[in-house]
Amino acid sequence: MSRLEGKVAVISGGNSGIGLAIAQRFAKEGADVFIFGRRQDALDTAAKLIGGGVTAIQADASRLDDLDRVAGTVRKARGRVDVVVSNAGFTEQVPLREITEEHYDRTFNLMAKGRCSWCRRCCR
Ligand SMILES: NC(=O)c1ccc[n+]([C@@H]2O[C@H](COP(=O)([O-])OP(=O)(O)OC[C@H]3O[C@@H](n4cnc5c(N)ncnc54)[C@H](OP(=O)(O)O)[C@@H]3O)[C@@H](O)[C@H]2O)c1
Repeated sequence: MSRLEGKVAVISGGNSGIGLAIAQRFAKEGADVFIFGRRQDALDTAAKLIGGGVTAIQADASRLDDLDRVAGTVRKARGRVDVVVSNAGFTEQVPLREITEEHYDRTFNLMAKGRCSWCRRCCR
């Protein structure tokens, strides 16, 4: 039996990069995979690469209403979440004296508020 057979896994940023690789591996291990990200074209491509059994949802992980919608969609479809991968993120390095309020908001909205809120929503 595959290690993740029957498990419901939700992966933020599962439409490219490391998140996509995780989604492909989880699907191969038997998981029921949900991915989300902002770019619809990348979601479509990822869904084809992952193959059957994946659900792709367009959503922004830095927006709490989007996170509510994703968590609600998964619960409605499967009733639970077994594995949460809070992968969506970015690195934007800026010299200290050049940091702007926009840079701060962009970073903290996703990497702090979005990540913590995402895990909390899945654990309800
Ligand atoms: N690669 C590395 O060497 C490395 C090292 C340390 C840590 N990390 C961390 O590992 C994670 C994945 O890295 P990666 O190299 O695979 O990055 P990547 O190729 O840039 O992929 C980032 C993923 O996150 C999604 N994403 C970004 N902002 C989002 C948002 N607001 N809402 C929803 N999805 C969002 C992107 O999809 P959309 O653009 O479609 O939203 C994309 O699927 C990141 O958190 C990164 O910071 C990476």
